Amino acid sequence: MVVTPNVGTAEKLAQAPRRVTILGSTGSVGTQTVDLVARDPDRFVVEALTANRNVALLAEQARQLKPKLAVVADPACYTELKDALAGTGVEAAAGPEAVAEAAARPSDWVMAAIVGAAGLEPTLAAVRRGACVAFANKEVLVCAGALMMEEVRAHGATLLPVDSEHSAIYQVFDFQRVDSVLRLILTASGGPFRTKDRAFMAAATREQAVKHPTWDMGAKISIDSATMMNKGLEIIEAHFLFGIPEPKIDVLVHPQSVVHSLVEYVDGSVLAQLGTPDMRTPIAYALGWPARIPTPAERLDLVKAATLTFEAPDPERFPALRLARAALQSGGGAPTILSAANEVAVQAFLDRRIGFLDIEKIVEGTLEALPHRPLRDLGEVRDTDAEARRMAADRVSAVGH
Ligand SMILES: NC(=O)c1ccc[n+]([C@@H]2O[C@H](COP(=O)([O-])OP(=O)(O)OC[C@H]3O[C@@H](n4cnc5c(N)ncnc54)[C@H](OP(=O)(O)O)[C@@H]3O)[C@@H](O)[C@H]2O)c1
Repeated sequence: MVVTPNVGTAEKLAQAPRRVTILGSTGSVGTQTVDLVARDPDRFVVEALTANRNVALLAEQARQLKPKLAVVADPACYTELKDALAGTGVEAAAGPEAVAEAAARPSDWVMAAIVGAAGLEPTLAAVRRGACVAFANKEVLVCAGALMMEEVRAHGATLLPVDSEHSAIYQVFDFQRVDSVLRLILTASGGPFRTKDRAFMAAATREQAVKHPTWDMGAKISIDSATMMNKGLEIIEAHFLFGIPEPKIDVLVHPQSVVHSLVEYVDGSVLAQLGTPDMRTPIAYALGWPARIPTPAERLDLVKAATLTFEAPDPERFPALRLARAALQSGGGAPTILSAANEVAVQAFLDRRIGFLDIEKIVEGTLEALPHRPLRDLGEVRDTDAEARRMAADRVSAVGH
């Protein structure tokens, strides 16, 4: 069942200024959110900012935006942050619990832009107080989708997708007539290895894999784009956000990243959202929602773009798509295992401990080795996530150089 946009929240949010919290403010999505917030100080007031270890950037953002609180997840960074904020009036805190507490503070709007399952507790803290949550942190919906959507419903929270594909679908999705939706079509750039063969990928370096052709993103999502696991995670994310079953979610490779995704209706109409590939556009959609706010993103000039091309994804060269679909079909803890094993394997590749094609092997092996039990509560999500991480780490050690 899809959670329809909350009209009451939309009306409340229309009253400026909007109080915002940015989780993961030092990352790729986080810094672009900071950029938009800083452009309009009359419209936005900042409650809290959080990072993992990047104290220098967090402190700089805090001096600029003057939040009440700045938090680092790594407790070892506390003294450095406290010193950096001395005299600013901004409270400093550290530790994963403090990140979740930042999310629980009373802001109207929370950007969930932490990478990986580390975002689960803070996102949940924002959802449980019925906040409007701009949702970039897709791994949270992959590892705990059904339970997270139940929490969203139970607490009257609003999830606004930030992933460009899901933002596009959100903008053209008929929430009142979900039965009229025939299928969702997620577009994919194809990543840096779209035209490469498996032999090339087997020898691919970190530098080659991280170099995305159209988007400038954090390291983990860039590798996920190269394996196309990112699109697999997005199929799962779309399933939970829009309540559409897996067979009705297609992937279309579109190297120019101009058509950000499409919805096909039963009458044959296909609605899409287009724009230049600049994350500030989907971030601004969520930041201003229900209003639209200006962004400095380059305008789309279709004459200049001239040719938009589309092709089918290649499941032979990119098995991650198959693995993600199978995990969603299998249900229970399978997507949790997929995402946890993928996080471990991607980090090992970034650390140059394994080869590029080892990522899919480790994910597949972990999915095969562990049972796909139903997940009844968040404790079971955490246990399954931890078990998958242990198993994937063992596999990294086994293949690692
Ligand atoms: N980048 C994009 O264009 C894009 C597009 C669509 C969706 N997304 C999704 O958005 C999320 C963020 O992506 P990103 O590219 O912005 O990632 P990123 O650049 O790596 O930034 C991640 C942010 O999370 C913080 N963080 C990392 N580990 C943490 C932990 N254990 N606890 C608390 N905070 C932690 C980082 O802090 P430090 O800086 O201190 O390490 C940083 O602020 C991902 O789920 C990604 O899939 C990103």
